[in-house]
Amino acid sequence: MSAGTKKVILTGDRPTGPLHLGHYVGSLQNRVELQHANQQYIIIADMQALTDNAEDPMKIQRGVLEVTLDYLAVGIDPSISTIFVQSMVPELAELTMYFLNLVTVARLQRNPTVKEEMKQKGFGANVPAGFLMYPVSQAADITAFKANLIPVGGDQLPMIEQTLEIVRRFNRVYGPVLVEPEALVSQIERLPGTDGQSKMGKSLGNAIYLSDPADVISQKVMGMFTDPNHLRANDPGKVEGNPVFSYLDAFDPDKDALEEMKAHYHRGGLGDVKVKKHLIAVLESFLNPIRIRREEFAKDPTEVLNVLRHGTQGARTVAAQTMSEVRKAMGINYF
Ligand code: TRP
Repeated sequence: MSAGTKKVILTGDRPTGPLHLGHYVGSLQNRVELQHANQQYIIIADMQALTDNAEDPMKIQRGVLEVTLDYLAVGIDPSISTIFVQSMVPELAELTMYFLNLVTVARLQRNPTVKEEMKQKGFGANVPAGFLMYPVSQAADITAFKANLIPVGGDQLPMIEQTLEIVRRFNRVYGPVLVEPEALVSQIERLPGTDGQSKMGKSLGNAIYLSDPADVISQKVMGMFTDPNHLRANDPGKVEGNPVFSYLDAFDPDKDALEEMKAHYHRGGLGDVKVKKHLIAVLESFLNPIRIRREEFAKDPTEVLNVLRHGTQGARTVAAQTMSEVRKAMGINYF
């Protein structure tokens, strides 16, 4: 990205619960940095969250507050970033309807992320229609703001790909109204879970949350998967694929000391407990200020709601403008 070119950023999360370290390295970090030089919109995608939680709306309602607190705690500044609630911008649902005519069911069934999630959730042929088409609704989220930069985790690339296809088809059929987005994936594409699985996930029970208290962090780190063949401190240990070191790579600011520690672990003589204690200290110094800010904001839920109300009003104005251009291009602006 060349310096000085201000981009329109659209990014966000499903509010199915609080955010974790994987969200942080995957995209929150980027968002905090990018908000200064760009116009950033952050969507709390509660409609998308409902596509597989239709029977548990209260979970999503709680999630909206949790995620907003996480955003504010990590340093998203609502005076420069627009944080808004997806379901309160009905233009997004409207745009989704028109986009659905530009996508086939077969194409949606081929979306790798949707496929993976459907398998994980055991949906098969009984997938809710809303879930299958959520990439189309995500395309509406992005295009309604004419966003050209989308900072997301690697698992979201298929969504951007699908959005591109919709944008091109729309512009070809109705005229050049929509903007082609570009994904921005962070250097650390995904953080493994505490159990060593390739991905940290809310539904996988292997996440460390930004809001976890100190004792929970210690407990989770002490229980972390390491190198299963590193039985005694003197044994040589594996650093690659060892999630304790993946976390240190992501969060330990002292890279030189970390390289030494890795070499020591690799040649033997460094026990897991020592490395884990170091990781606990590293995570604690990263998370403690976030936790304090979060508690501060949590004391004033009315103010948090005001942030969302204000952001949503701003977002709605922008989305409505795009919708009126869309209607005009499609010839459905009757009166
Ligand atoms: N799909 C994202 C997630 O799983 C949330 C999301 C909804 C999103 N709309 C978006 C992300 C638009 C980026 C851009 O958390």
